Amino acid sequence: MNAPTMQGLDIQAPAYVKNAKLIAWVADMAALCKPDSIVWCDGSKEEYDRLCEQLVQAGTFKKLNPAKRPGSFLAWSDPSDVARVEDRTYICSAKKEDAGPTNNWMDPAEMRATLQPLFDGCMKGRTMYVVPFSMGPLGSHIAHIGVELTDSAYVAVNQRLMTRMGKAVYDVLGVDGEFVPCMHTVGAPLAAGEKDTTSWPCNPKVKYIVHYPETREIWSYGSGYGGNALLGKKCLALRIASTMGRDQGWLAEHMLILGVTNPEGKKYHVAAAFPSACGKTNFSMLVPPEAGFAGWKVTTIGDDIAWIKPHADGKMYAINPEAGYFGVAPGTNMHTNPNCMRSLDKDVIFTNVALTDDGDVWWEGMEKDTGVIPDHLIDWQGKDWTPQIAKETGAKAAHPNSRFTVAATNNPALDPQWDDANGVAIDAFIFGGRRSTTVPLVTEARTWMEGVYMAATMGSETTAAAFGAQGVVRRDPFAMLPFCGYNMSDYFQHWLDMEHKLEETGHTLPKIFCVNWFRKGEDGKFVWPGYGENMRVLKWMIDRIEGQAQGQDTMFGVTPTYAEINWKGLDFTAQQFATVTSIDKAAWVEEFKLHTEHFDKLAYHLPQALLDTKAALEKRLAA
Ligand code: GTP
Ligand code: SPV
Ligand code: MN
Repeated sequence: MNAPTMQGLDIQAPAYVKNAKLIAWVADMAALCKPDSIVWCDGSKEEYDRLCEQLVQAGTFKKLNPAKRPGSFLAWSDPSDVARVEDRTYICSAKKEDAGPTNNWMDPAEMRATLQPLFDGCMKGRTMYVVPFSMGPLGSHIAHIGVELTDSAYVAVNQRLMTRMGKAVYDVLGVDGEFVPCMHTVGAPLAAGEKDTTSWPCNPKVKYIVHYPETREIWSYGSGYGGNALLGKKCLALRIASTMGRDQGWLAEHMLILGVTNPEGKKYHVAAAFPSACGKTNFSMLVPPEAGFAGWKVTTIGDDIAWIKPHADGKMYAINPEAGYFGVAPGTNMHTNPNCMRSLDKDVIFTNVALTDDGDVWWEGMEKDTGVIPDHLIDWQGKDWTPQIAKETGAKAAHPNSRFTVAATNNPALDPQWDDANGVAIDAFIFGGRRSTTVPLVTEARTWMEGVYMAATMGSETTAAAFGAQGVVRRDPFAMLPFCGYNMSDYFQHWLDMEHKLEETGHTLPKIFCVNWFRKGEDGKFVWPGYGENMRVLKWMIDRIEGQAQGQDTMFGVTPTYAEINWKGLDFTAQQFATVTSIDKAAWVEEFKLHTEHFDKLAYHLPQALLDTKAALEKRLAA
């Protein structure tokens, strides 16, 4: 592509962009989307500041009081565009069975025909940003490169915080390197010469979040929010990457990664999968209780996504493909997550939290720090909010899925190895859902097989992270229900196959644990204090790894005895412990019925081993 202009549009790439495929693709997409101009992002601070200033001018960003929150901005989205849209998310594999029953599917040719007219001229009146990014440390053998074309400056600046974004990516890409093309438009149609009139352009009616796994492409139309629009995150790093992992023998998971160091200096690494808004960011930044855990340290490698590959030294190594956090604001405070609060002191983009009268941010849960609820706020919809209004109408000041975007380097607990190109060796996998009943606080799987069973049948109460009814238990296998880019049963098989592949090559299999921080008592309140106190459970897991805790056998694994948990500094009685660890036989009979329903839906390619395991567990339960 040598033509520097196309119908008056300057499409010339900067001299440092040498990848022929990329240059040709940008020209093709410019011809399709017809933006007014093209900006090739270099990832510099100057560029970031310039785009933020532009967003302030457009009314998308409010600059926060620099005395309170330096370098920070607040965006309020369109009220129709506040979460991932699972019913508008598609896996367009050539064959329907390859997308499986848990994904929306459309024939790729039909989807392309549907999207073509939507993308035709979709960027008129706007700038197209070319956003190059690396998922994973630049040049790491585990990393992959993506390039997002977007007409949203909000997306471009968020991507600079969330990924390794900018010029250096072009060097890694070279002349003929591979990248995942990520097309994104906010999609609100403009007539020729027209400009956006709203500060959060999006298409309130038409949205498509589309993945073509075979050709590894992402096309997103109509939303500017989170996982719908920051295409490196769920679209590339999970849906597309999970299919790469299936083909190439590795894992792309909805998992945090943390390091935990004991007082003797021995360090362990765990990767934990909890569904959206079920505690990954919090667990990854955990501060151990002062009493009983002197000398223990938890450090963050990642808070949402892990890419895991078996390594020649016999262990599984994980990297965090991201470089920032797009985290849930409500509930975050100095008691629940002090490391997170400190991460948010400066250089943050907030989305859909409330604005205080002195130009700072507020969300539900912050009153635990200050002891007071502000007299007056502007809520996430730009309306006056007072405690009285909240009482009368139930209006939340911050949207329940309001978020912060911040670079990982802001985190005071960032692990020194977070950017290590080889990743960290995983000692244990943890799976957990949000269950008010039935599932005990912690269980260790007796075998890899039973661990995969636990993860495959995991249920969780739905949250505000996605559109739809909240608080309903749904099966969310491996916390991957909305993120697995292929047939779920094939994904189970992929996990099962890992055992033999790893054993054959002399690998040590990480232990598998299942947790539930969310059991409720008769008063409807969480019984387990959670947050930093989760360290007590993590410590027991480490004791198990070291062979220092015996535990006790239950129907589906090994759980701690009351005496095996370090209770120093926490008043938690044996009675309370029983409430969060008890296995109610009748409830489990019902639970297994739900597993049956779940497996019935996944019958195509469902590994027989899972059905056999179920039968064995049911037999144990009946015994
Ligand atoms: P995504 O970013 O959507 O993937 O969410 P996440 O898994 O990172 O969840 P996050 O850590 O942001 O927590 C979501 C909500 O759960 C917040 O409101 C937290 O306050 C709450 N939460 C996190 N950990 C705990 C816990 O141990 N106990 C209780 N009761 N609530 C928790
Ligand atoms: C999630 O929903 O799991 C998130 C937020 O982490 S989003 O980026 O919207 O996917
Ligand atoms: Mn997530």
